[in-house]
Amino acid sequence: MANVTVIGAQWGDEGKGKIVDWLASRADVVVRFQGGHNAGHTLVVGDKVYKLSLLPSGIVTGTLSIIGNGVVLDPWHLKAEIEKLEGQGVEINRENFAIAENCPLILPVHRDLDGLREAAAGAGKIGTTGRGIGPAYEDKVGRRAIRVCDLAHLDDLGPQLDRLCAHHDALRAGFGQPPVDREALIAELREIAPFVLQFAEPVWKRLNTVKKAGARVLFEGAQGVLLDVDHGTYPFVTSSNTVSGTAASGSGLGPSSTGFVLGIVKAYTTRVGSGPFPTELEDETGQRLGERGHEFGTVTGRKRRCGWFDAVLVRQSCAISGVTGIALTKVDVLDGLDKVKICTGYRLNGKVLDYYPSHAADQANVEPIYEEMDGWQGTTAGARSWADLPAQAIKYIQRVQELIETPVALVSTSPEREDTILVRDPFQD
Ligand code: IMP
Repeated sequence: MANVTVIGAQWGDEGKGKIVDWLASRADVVVRFQGGHNAGHTLVVGDKVYKLSLLPSGIVTGTLSIIGNGVVLDPWHLKAEIEKLEGQGVEINRENFAIAENCPLILPVHRDLDGLREAAAGAGKIGTTGRGIGPAYEDKVGRRAIRVCDLAHLDDLGPQLDRLCAHHDALRAGFGQPPVDREALIAELREIAPFVLQFAEPVWKRLNTVKKAGARVLFEGAQGVLLDVDHGTYPFVTSSNTVSGTAASGSGLGPSSTGFVLGIVKAYTTRVGSGPFPTELEDETGQRLGERGHEFGTVTGRKRRCGWFDAVLVRQSCAISGVTGIALTKVDVLDGLDKVKICTGYRLNGKVLDYYPSHAADQANVEPIYEEMDGWQGTTAGARSWADLPAQAIKYIQRVQELIETPVALVSTSPEREDTILVRDPFQD
C-alpha cells in the first residue's frame, strides 16, 4: 500500500492546495491531522476556485475526507465552510466526511484570548491568524478542552467546564474582561451540536478498516515545518506539530502508515506574520516576487514577506520530517530575473553554520551566505515536461535538489492541476 503524507517544508503557503488536490483525486481517503482553520488552501479545478481552511482537500472531489483528532475544530466555522462549499455544488455527507469524536473544539473564548494577547503584545506579537488556534491547543494539553464527543453530553460537562472557565476567567480578568458567560456558551454549543455530531465518529477505527481494505491514504498537513511548535522559529510558530510524524498521532493510524513524505517547497521563500526570516528581501526584488507570486494570505489577506530560496532551512525541514521527495512550486515567479540567489549557509559571530540554530536571537542575527546563479528569460509557466523549461531553470532546480539533499518528485508550474512535471509518483513509490 502506498500512502502519501504532504507537509509544507517552509513557513506555510508553499502551494500545498494544488498538489494535495491532484493527489486527492487518486487517493481513497484524505486526512487532516493538525492545525485548524488557520490554514488556507486554494484549489483551482477547471473554472472553479475553492477556498478551504478546515476541510480536507479531498472534499471537493468527493473523496472520503477526515478531520483527525490532531486538528482543533471551530464548529461554527465548520458549518460556514460546509455551507459555502455546498453552495458551490460540493456534496458533503456522512459517506464522504467524518470528524474525530476526540477532536478538541475552538470556542469563542479562544478567539477572544488570541486577539487580546496579540493586541497586548505590541511589537512582540506573533502575528497569528486570530482564530484561537494557540489557546485551543493550550486547553487541550491543559486537559480542560471541550471535545466533539462532549457535544453529545452538554448537560454533564460539570467539572470540565468549571476548569475551563476558571482558567479563562483568570486570564480574562488580567485583560480587564468580564468572566466567561457560561450560559451563553452552553446555549451556543447546544445549537451547533447536532450539526457537528452528524459527522462525529471514532475515525481511527474507520481509518484502520479502510487501511486493511488496501485504501490509499493521503495525509494533508497544514502550515509548514518552520512553524512547528518544536522545530520551528519558536516562539514565532503555530501551536501544533506540523512535521510528518504528526500524521500518525493526529489521525489514529500508526507511523508505519505515513508512507511517502512529500515536502512542498516554494522556489523562493515567504512568511506571513512576525519572526526571523534570514533571506527576506525588503527591496524591489522582494516586491516583484510578492506581486508575481500573488503573495497575500488566503485566510487573513495579509501581505506575505518574500525572499530568496533558503536551502539551509529546507534541508533542515526535509531532514526533520524525513521527506522522501519534494514538490517544487512557483518556479515561474522567478522567470525573467537576471540573477537568482540561493542561501547555502549562515554567518553568525564570525562562524559559518550549515544549520539554523534554535535560539531566537541567533535566528534573528544569522547572515545568509548566498550563491548567485544566472536567471532565465524564457517562461516556465505551464510547463509539463523538462523539455518545456529553459536550460537555466533546470540548472536552478537541480542545484536546489543538490543543496537540500532531497530529490525533486514534482515540479508545479501554474495553479492548474495539469501544469505539473512528474518525476516520481509518490503513490507508486
Ligand atoms: P496561528 O496558527 O494562528 O496561531 O499563527 C501562528 C503563526 O503561524 C503566525 O505567524 C501565522 O501567520 C502562521 N500561520 C498559521 N497558519 C498559517 C498558514 O496556513 N500559512 C502560513 N502561515 C500560517
